[in-house]
Amino acid sequence: MMTIRNNDFTDVVLNRHSVRYFDTEAKISREELTEMIQQTILAPSACNLQPWKFVIIDTEEGKEKLRSFFLQFNLPQVDTAAAIVFIFGDTNAYKSYRDVWNKAAEEGRISPEKRDEVLRTFLPLYEAASYEGLVTDAKIGGSLAAMQLMLVARAHGYDTNAIQGYNAKVAAEILGLDPVRYVPTMAIAIGKEDVLKNKDTVKTTRYSVDDVTTFL
Ligand SMILES: Cc1cc2nc3c(=O)[nH]c(=O)nc-3n(C[C@H](O)[C@H](O)[C@H](O)COP(=O)(O)O)c2cc1C
Repeated sequence: MMTIRNNDFTDVVLNRHSVRYFDTEAKISREELTEMIQQTILAPSACNLQPWKFVIIDTEEGKEKLRSFFLQFNLPQVDTAAAIVFIFGDTNAYKSYRDVWNKAAEEGRISPEKRDEVLRTFLPLYEAASYEGLVTDAKIGGSLAAMQLMLVARAHGYDTNAIQGYNAKVAAEILGLDPVRYVPTMAIAIGKEDVLKNKDTVKTTRYSVDDVTTFL
């Protein structure tokens, strides 16, 4: 299935804005959510480690769990979104790195020599990394997936809100993941905009390019 409804790059990217009230009648099938994740995981990551894990909440029971640790001001999104995709970074992603490259070699996509070179170059960096380093790497990967998901959702005709306002200390455990291995990156609420309820949302502005850029 390929359900791209908006293939206008300019509209998808430049007209994205946070939506905090969604149309509660508009549901998204698990098939389409799965397709959106399939398109999301094409995001790049350091060494192609793919250090992300998605917990998709699209049921009332799941939303009840989110309500237990989301900050009050994020409850409208929880209540009205068709789905909330909670993105975690995986600090153990490097442990399956060997499998990824073995598979590539088995399928003849790279030579065994090239595989060994890649593993020799990158694996020791991760094996020697501190936990903090692995957390940083996992959160950068998770964040790139998050941005890709927000744009993929737009291409599917939906809007999103990125959410970090929750108790990060308890997120993994409440959502059934090992809290040492999986670090919360952000949640993405997805659905169709409730235009009427969202109309008072302030249109955000940005600093000037000069303020945030230098050329060297
Ligand atoms: C990492 C991250 C965390 C955010 N957390 C929240 C949040 O907890 N609640 C919320 O309402 N919006 C949240 N936002 C949305 C931002 O407020 C919003 O992206 C920003 O104000 C720019 O507005 P725009 O998305 O409409 O362009 C978050 C955005 C990002 C990227």
